[in-house]
Formats: sequence, structure tokens, C-alpha cells
Amino acid sequence: MKFEIFGGKTFSGEIEVSGSKNNTLKILSASLLFKNPVVIENVPQIEDVFRMNELLKDLGVNIFYKNKNTLVLDSRKVKNFKLSFDTAKKLRASIALAGPLLGRFNQVVFPYPGGCVIGKRPIDIFLSAWKKMGANVSEKNDVFCLKAKKIKGTNIVFRLPSVTATESVIMTAVLGYGKTIIWNPAREPEVLALIDFLNASGAKIFGAGTSKIEIIGRNGKLLESKKPFKIIPDRIEAGSFLILGSALANYLKIKNCNPEHLMSVIGVLKDAGVQVKIGKNFLEVQKPKKLLACNIKTSEYPGFPTDLQAPFVVLMTQAYGQSMIFETIYDGRLNYIEDINRMGAKIIMCDPHRIIINGPTKLRGREIESPDLRAGLAFVLAGLIARGKSLIYNIYQIDRGYEKIEEKLQKLGLNIKRVE
Ligand code: EPU
Repeated sequence: MKFEIFGGKTFSGEIEVSGSKNNTLKILSASLLFKNPVVIENVPQIEDVFRMNELLKDLGVNIFYKNKNTLVLDSRKVKNFKLSFDTAKKLRASIALAGPLLGRFNQVVFPYPGGCVIGKRPIDIFLSAWKKMGANVSEKNDVFCLKAKKIKGTNIVFRLPSVTATESVIMTAVLGYGKTIIWNPAREPEVLALIDFLNASGAKIFGAGTSKIEIIGRNGKLLESKKPFKIIPDRIEAGSFLILGSALANYLKIKNCNPEHLMSVIGVLKDAGVQVKIGKNFLEVQKPKKLLACNIKTSEYPGFPTDLQAPFVVLMTQAYGQSMIFETIYDGRLNYIEDINRMGAKIIMCDPHRIIINGPTKLRGREIESPDLRAGLAFVLAGLIARGKSLIYNIYQIDRGYEKIEEKLQKLGLNIKRVE
């Protein structure tokens, strides 16, 4: 499968944002902590969610779709604490299942989580926290076995505020004994949403969004779901649409989003001369007469998200002046630059974390292959800006995180098609 795009066209219209991928993956994992079925609404239909469902089913979770975006998960019969290796190895987020399994069964077996080119990243922060909580960790051929007599509360200091490590330690600690404190936790909206979900179900977690989170363990007592949980809007999808609108829209309304989650992105776009109107749960954007170059440095929330770095780079190829982009979260997340240059951009790689973009440049359609999810979306954007035909390969990467993206873009009148 590939996307065929004929670009160079402006548009007007409205677009809807789906539920957040990264919130969904963690809420699905948290369903393992419950003594009754959990109902989750606004679940996006994306490949990463399907893979996570496969992993949960393999563990023994009973899952069914009430309607296309509402899932019911019943983990009462789960006895298995060993993740299916083949699927888990291919999905970085599979590690999010290890925390709740360890909390519930005092043991877990999982392979080193992988995924796309940036998926295989370190898990030292998780392992060191779980050791402090009483787990014995052994590893052989990239398979980890963790076993604890019981999970005990402790003081954990993160060397950096890892999102999934914060969520994982919370999910382990919530069923443990005593109080766990995490210093320097992540503050991303998805972490806060997970904490809201757990607290609404009987957990006692304090300090969400601050530099210190406290979790009072429930001494092995499972949580009880009292009402359906609605997944928060996907801020990265909304931000991608905001960037698309800044490049090509005479008018674009982005519906079902939370503008508060995107303030750093909106701030930068305004510096670039883009007009953005902020509503309660919508955004309106239009491309400026003259787009101006801007420098960004990606950072943890509430800074500029790394997951929007690639689409923003493509936007800056259309801006007047020189922009410097500094990627601070990941190694290897600027590897897609060569392909954008092949389309006509003038981007200089200064070092593996910094690039300089000289703009504006005319982009031409090309055949390119998505290296990862976010660069894949950036290639779609580049294809829509470029004159002529682009073919984007490896679109599984894009389907991992964007729900039926071509259908959403077609509704705006854009020329994009999924072809065999
Ligand atoms: N890191 C370590 N050791 C660890 C954990 C992380 O060195 O034990 C490093 C990573 O290598 C990375 C940095 O810390 O350089 C930040 O990683 P973090 O753990 O915060 O990321 P994550 O939890 O694995 C989530 C999102 C990512 C998003 C990042 C940063 C999920 C499933 N994924 O990943 O989303 O980029 O936070 O905001 O929640 C995406 O959706 O495309 C995506 C990659």
C-alpha cells in the first residue's frame, strides 16, 4: 500500500481530530488493574491500538467493540503475565503493559520493545525504578523477567522525565504496598489523563502535572471502574492539522481538539506570521501571505513536542529566511531530511540533532518511504505542498497513529489516494 498525492493545491474546510493514540495505549494497559470491565470511548482506529489489543487478548483480556470507537475490556480472567514476543518486539508501547502486570502479579516477562527506527530506545529508567520497588530483574537474549515478593513504595528520582516510565511506575505502584514518590516525572497531558482515569476508579495519586507525584498503594486491591473513560483528543494530530493549515489553508477549522495542549505550537506559528483563532474545543487557521522562518527546540511538555518536529520542518521549507531546528528528545529523528532535500528543500544537517533550513523553496513530487510515524505524516504534508505527483511508501507507519488520514484530507478537497 502507498499514498499517491498530487500536491500544490490550497483548500478550505473543516477537519475532526480523533482520540489520542498515546493516551489510548496507556488506558488500554491500565485495564489490567481492574476487577470489573472498563469502557473506553473515543478510541482511535489505528494500527498501534490494534496491536495493543492483540497483546491484551493474548494475555487473556476479553475485548469487544461496543461501536467503532468504544471499547470494553474485561481483564478478570487474566492469569498470563508473559507478553507475546512477536508483537511486543515490534511495538515500543508494549512496555506499558509490563508495569500493570508487575503490579498485579508481582511478575512479568517481556521482550525488549522495538518498533520503528526510533522505537528501539533505552528502558533503563523503567528497570531501575522497578528494582527499587522490589523487583528482581534478569535478562537473557533481550527477554526480561521481573519478579518481586511484593511491590513496595519507595522514592524514585528520574534522570529525565520519561513519559511511559512515569505512567508505568504509577501503574505498578497503584496496586503496591505503601507510598511511592516519583521525582521529575513527565507532565504530558496523556499522563494527567491516565492519572484522572485511575483516580476516578479508586486510586490515590497526587501531584499530577508537578515535579513530584505521590502514589498511595492499594495493598494488592484491584481498581473498580465506575464510569466510561473518554480518551482525550490527539494533540499531535491536531498540531499536524494546524501545520497543514498554516501551509495550505485559505481557511481550516480543526474540531474536537484541546487548544490548551498546543499553546507552544500556536505560539511558534504566530511568530511565523500565521493567524490562529483559539476556541474552546476548536482551532481556526489560515496560511499567511508571507510565512516567516522560526527557530524551535523540541522539549518535554509544555515545550514544542518532538512529535511535531518533522511536519514543522516541512512547513519551514516554505518560510522566508533561515530556521534552526534543535531536536533534543531523540537521536535519529532528523534522518528523514535527505528525502525532503530530494524534493527540493535546502536543509543543512549541522550535527545529528540540529539542522538549518533555508527558505522558501519550491518542492517537487517524489517517491519516498516513511521511516517512522511522524516523519511519514511530514512526507504527506510535503507531498501536498509539492508540485506534481508524490508516492509515499511504507504507510503502515502512518496508519499506526493517524486514523484514516487520507479520508480526512480528501474531505478537504486534497488529492491523496491509497493505492495498491
Ligand atoms: N529514555 C531513556 N531511558 C528510558 C526511557 C526513555 O533514555 O528508560 C529516553 C528516550 O530514549 C528518549 C527520551 O528518554 O530519548 C524521552 O522518551 P520518553 O520515555 O519520554 O518517550 P516514550 O514514553 O517512549 C512517548 C510517546 C512518544 C513521544 C514521547 C515524547 C507513547 C506511546 N509514546 O514515548 O510518541 O515522542 O513520549 O513525548 O506515549 C509518537 O507518538 O510518535 C511517539 C514516538
